[in-house]
Amino acid sequence: AEGGSAEAGKTKSATCAACHGMDGNSVNPEWPKLAGQHESYIVKQLMNFKNDERVNATMTPQAKPLSDQDMADLAAYFSSQAVKPGEADQAKVTLGEQVYKGGNNASGVAACAACHGPTGAGNPASNFPSLHGQQTTYVKNQLMAFRKGERANDAGKMMRNIAANMTDAEIDAVAEYIAGL
Ligand code: HEM
Ligand code: HEM
Repeated sequence: AEGGSAEAGKTKSATCAACHGMDGNSVNPEWPKLAGQHESYIVKQLMNFKNDERVNATMTPQAKPLSDQDMADLAAYFSSQAVKPGEADQAKVTLGEQVYKGGNNASGVAACAACHGPTGAGNPASNFPSLHGQQTTYVKNQLMAFRKGERANDAGKMMRNIAANMTDAEIDAVAEYIAGL
């Protein structure tokens, strides 16, 4: 986001740190890491929570009082932090890697790498979020929420259409692969 100050964001991030970690590396697997995430994506999510376009009982009240400047500053701060990768369950990474890199032609699952990149870096210009090192449980929860249509803030239904065709086993495996990316 334009005009975000990482220094100001650091000061404003004290309440966020309780869940997302001081440096944006959360510890609880249900809470997403924000470290290294693109500024534009963080701002979009905070706007979506504030406008009730993305609904979450925990985050909605956090986002409501934030001004545009607060969002830009918080995004600049968390984006400037280095993400610490997690550990993948090695029993699941073979299927996870296959889904991530190749999708599933038979069931119509697009390759994640096409948008999120081979290393999970995403693409800030298109607002495709970074996924690498993201918490396994958080990723699973998001894919299941997209599949059920409970998370519906993806432009053009990109993620809802993909998740709709994913099996539980594919979701589980790709989440493990992403954690270790
Ligand atoms: C999700 C930022 C405070 C718990 C998110 C996301 C952002 C964010 C950008 C979306 C991440 C993504 O899509 O990858 C912030 C900021 C905060 C804050 C800037 C401070 C102003 C908190 C606090 C808690 C919390 C205090 C815990 C009490 C969560 C949870 C999610 C989330 C559980 C995932 C929601 C879901 O499953 O859809 N937060 N957060 N956050 N945050 Fe926060
Ligand atoms: C968001 C996973 C394929 C575009 C996400 C999120 C996850 C995810 C977990 C939420 C990130 C977060 O909350 O931090 C996957 C997986 C894929 C896949 C596992 C393959 C099976 C794709 C493809 C595209 C795409 C092929 C582009 C056509 C997006 C976009 C968002 C997103 C635009 C952000 C939605 C928003 O603004 O809230 N993806 N993705 N993804 N993905 Fe994917």
